Amino acid sequence: MSLLLIAKNRNMGPWEQALLKEESDLDIEIWPDIQEPEKVQFAAAWGQPAHSLKQLPNLKAVSSLGAGVDHILNDKTLPEGLKICRIVDPHLTDDMKKYTQAAVLNYRLSSYKYYEQKLEAKWKRLPRKRIDDFIIGVMGLGKIGQPVAKNLAQLGYHVKGWANSKKDIKGVTVFSGNGELNSFLDGTELIICLLPLTPETRGVLNLELFKKLKHPGFVINVGRGEHLVEEDLIYALDKQWLSGAQLDVFSEEPLPGNHPFWNRKNIVISPHVSAETSPSSVAAQIIENYKRTISGLPLINEVDKQKRY
Ligand code: NDP
Ligand code: OXD
Repeated sequence: MSLLLIAKNRNMGPWEQALLKEESDLDIEIWPDIQEPEKVQFAAAWGQPAHSLKQLPNLKAVSSLGAGVDHILNDKTLPEGLKICRIVDPHLTDDMKKYTQAAVLNYRLSSYKYYEQKLEAKWKRLPRKRIDDFIIGVMGLGKIGQPVAKNLAQLGYHVKGWANSKKDIKGVTVFSGNGELNSFLDGTELIICLLPLTPETRGVLNLELFKKLKHPGFVINVGRGEHLVEEDLIYALDKQWLSGAQLDVFSEEPLPGNHPFWNRKNIVISPHVSAETSPSSVAAQIIENYKRTISGLPLINEVDKQKRY
């Protein structure tokens, strides 16, 4: 029995070390040099190449190397019947709380505008936003979105949240489903997207949504690049329906050098780093699911393949 590490353009060395530190006699294979494909029962993957998992006749389950599973499920050649699980990790959540908290504070304090003004040696005071001057809307209230919303509420912001199902979160007004999307957006100025990428959420950050925000709005996308309709963002910025955006995820990563986003002063870009999975922090849960797979036990953090998250 073996565990396969598989990802395109990623150094798997730290993952192998972290797994072996946790369990020194683990049998690990690393794609593409798989020695004994028939022995692989479990794979830990990030964006596996098409057809790669089909070569493993005894594969039973695949874990994401992160929180999202879209990069696994988007593989049209994914064999039927595989169980899919993902990472749920307090460090990942904590990273995201810090990133979003900082992004919201920079928005409030016009930090990036002052940075631009500095480059032009320009001394100009901008209106200051107080903590209760605007409403933040968090889209996606899961293992990461819910603590993010709660954290912002605890800091004193007005926070609304949106998910598929109703929830009770202290300090957060929760809306659910498409039927309540308009009420969620009404009066909301700053949107934080922490949805999983599914057929329902693809393109959710679009012109219709930007129109319904309190203008000028602001968008922080830390979900997936495909949540955002890129040309709609540019249009909404030009129309001044939005004052800016902070983006950590993109449809194409790395973002190509000639992409129009690079030249927009009011788009802040980070290279998919808002929350980073640390191999040492999550090795134990990957091994736990590997062992459960071998023993035929239910997996932890298993994904509902119908819902795709
Ligand atoms: P979860 O699966 O725990 O939560 C997903 C949330 O989205 C749930 O609240 C769910 O509602 C809601 N949701 C799903 N579909 C819809 C829909 N159609 N309409 C309304 N709400 C919906 O995910 P996590 O919190 O762990 O992670 C969220 C995403 O964040 C990941 O999938 C990944 O894409 C992204 N991410 C990005 C990182 C980065 O570095 N940029 C790092 C980590 C994650 P309900 O609760 O009712 O089911
Ligand atoms: C994740 C990510 O899904 O890093 O964990 O985006």
